Amino acid sequence: MTVPVPVVIDCDPGHDDALAIMLAAGDPAIDLLAITTVAGNQTVERTTLNARRVCTVAGITGVPVAEGCARPLVQPLLVAGDVHGDSGLDGPRFSEPTVDVVPEHAVELMRRVLAEHPEPVTLVPTGPLTNVALLLTRHPDSARDIREIVLMGGSAGRGNRTPAAEFNIHVDPESADIVFNSGLPVTMCGLDVTHQALATPDVLGRLERLDTGLSRTCVELMTYFASAYRRLWGFAAPPLHDPVAVARVIDPGIVRCVEANVVVELHGRYTRGATVVDLHQYTGRPVNARVAVELDVEMFWDRVIAAVDVLGRRMR
Ligand code: BDR
Ligand code: CA
Repeated sequence: MTVPVPVVIDCDPGHDDALAIMLAAGDPAIDLLAITTVAGNQTVERTTLNARRVCTVAGITGVPVAEGCARPLVQPLLVAGDVHGDSGLDGPRFSEPTVDVVPEHAVELMRRVLAEHPEPVTLVPTGPLTNVALLLTRHPDSARDIREIVLMGGSAGRGNRTPAAEFNIHVDPESADIVFNSGLPVTMCGLDVTHQALATPDVLGRLERLDTGLSRTCVELMTYFASAYRRLWGFAAPPLHDPVAVARVIDPGIVRCVEANVVVELHGRYTRGATVVDLHQYTGRPVNARVAVELDVEMFWDRVIAAVDVLGRRMR
């Protein structure tokens, strides 16, 4: 049996973040050390409440949850209420969460967890990169405690928030720029691959058949998410972006990557927040990232559904 990968997940739940947390907590290949929150899909107060709700409904206890940055480094916060609803996690009705936050800022919790863990830790950011950028600038020594950063964000093609920019990078391009220039191993799971992770009726049927309280909550989450994607983008089934980054950590074979130079457009009049991915080495700029291009769809859903099953049964 292989040793689980120690992971900190930095997120802005969010429907797909919720499933990313469940995958990280329920899959035996991951040792989830902490959950930190950031403003993105909603204000940080709401994303933190949602992280607590997810932990409560999924029976995730003993994993510290800390609230992080309330706004991006430079620009005002933009939220995605149109996609995730006013609460950031519209759909299911959640009871009062019993999992609380720790009295520590997310950046400080990350620094401490990284420093205290005997092995380098993998960071999995699934929201805007504000907390991670702050960690790297405020505590540069933390870099030596980071094995790699496997993030959901960006796109080698078009965006989903502007024609050029994907949401997580669009919200805080300066932070993304810091992360891609950090010199750390960075894997970018962008829209190119997350749009292959579609929560189809078949997937919802598999979740339904698990027949646990948690699986029913997941179906409610996905049903709401599906309606938003149908309304906003005409998708027949919604892409479950954030768990793809977790799946890459669980088994790199699930997410095929290529190496490339990635820069974040900070100044473009129409393209600010775009990730400019040099897939064909036009620029001669050095490789600074692995870019996810292909998902093994079957392996992906098998792991997500198995994790929801494990957590759901544990609570029975
Ligand atoms: C990303 O934006 C958010 O709405 C999702 O949670 C995901 O992290 C997709 O562009
Ligand atoms: Ca997210």
